[in-house]
Amino acid sequence: MELGGPEFSFPLRKKREIWCEELETLYSKAVSNQWSAARDIPWNKLPKLPKEVEGAVCQVMTFLTENEFAALYVPARFLARIHPHYREVTAVLAMQVVDEARHVEVFTRRAEEGGLGLGTTANSSQLSLQTLIEEPDFSTAFFLLSVMGEGTFLSLLKFLEDHAPDPVTAALMRLAHRDEGRHVAFGTGHLRYLLAAEPERRASLAAAVERRSQMLAAVSGLSPYVHDALVVYSGGGLSPAQIRKGAACVSGLHREMDRSRRERLQALGFGAQDAESLSAYHTKNFM
Ligand SMILES: [Fe+2]
Ligand SMILES: [Fe+2]
Repeated sequence: MELGGPEFSFPLRKKREIWCEELETLYSKAVSNQWSAARDIPWNKLPKLPKEVEGAVCQVMTFLTENEFAALYVPARFLARIHPHYREVTAVLAMQVVDEARHVEVFTRRAEEGGLGLGTTANSSQLSLQTLIEEPDFSTAFFLLSVMGEGTFLSLLKFLEDHAPDPVTAALMRLAHRDEGRHVAFGTGHLRYLLAAEPERRASLAAAVERRSQMLAAVSGLSPYVHDALVVYSGGGLSPAQIRKGAACVSGLHREMDRSRRERLQALGFGAQDAESLSAYHTKNFM
């Protein structure tokens, strides 16, 4: 660099604060797995669903869309703070922002394509996402977003693919799940790198999850809009037998989310008991 140039303030300038050993693989996977709403989704195969099922799909799409926005804003707000020396991190996070923009696009489009459009955004979801978007520390933000939130979303997207009422929704869930797998891998890889050097950071990460859960103490559980929509979505309708089936499916989903969160936390070196309590503290909003 020529002498006398301007000073840039890039607050993220220590390798440990941002690095992940798998960046090269993650970037090349992200580039080769790009897909397009226009080219890769069989929109013309969308059937006319019973109104209650289509309504449930639209409510689920609304919930997904607002969460996708949070997943877009978190990497986006950190991107411009990373010193360009770490171009590999910038590249992976830029791809992540593109992925989330596509998720926002397709989930919104799925809601509109069926004729009903987006549903209701609950205050509980908004409150949960606000605590995520405003987290100022890079590692804590990616712990909350990727390890806890997007990790939980892997279970959700798999559930939504398995129970999808139409081939369009199933295709969206399968492709979004593949993208989210990479996002979770970045967050987990970064935390693995950081914790290898600073194992004591586990305590502050755990404290962040607890703090967030206290801020959301007024939120008793998953928004009823989302819960009911998931029941109808997986049960296939509103008859008592369908509701019973859907409610059982959704309980199974909660158990699977908890199991996989504990597994990811233990893989990062948290003890079994800490993993159990952190998983229980995780926001009922899933993200
Ligand atoms: Fe996403
Ligand atoms: Fe994501």
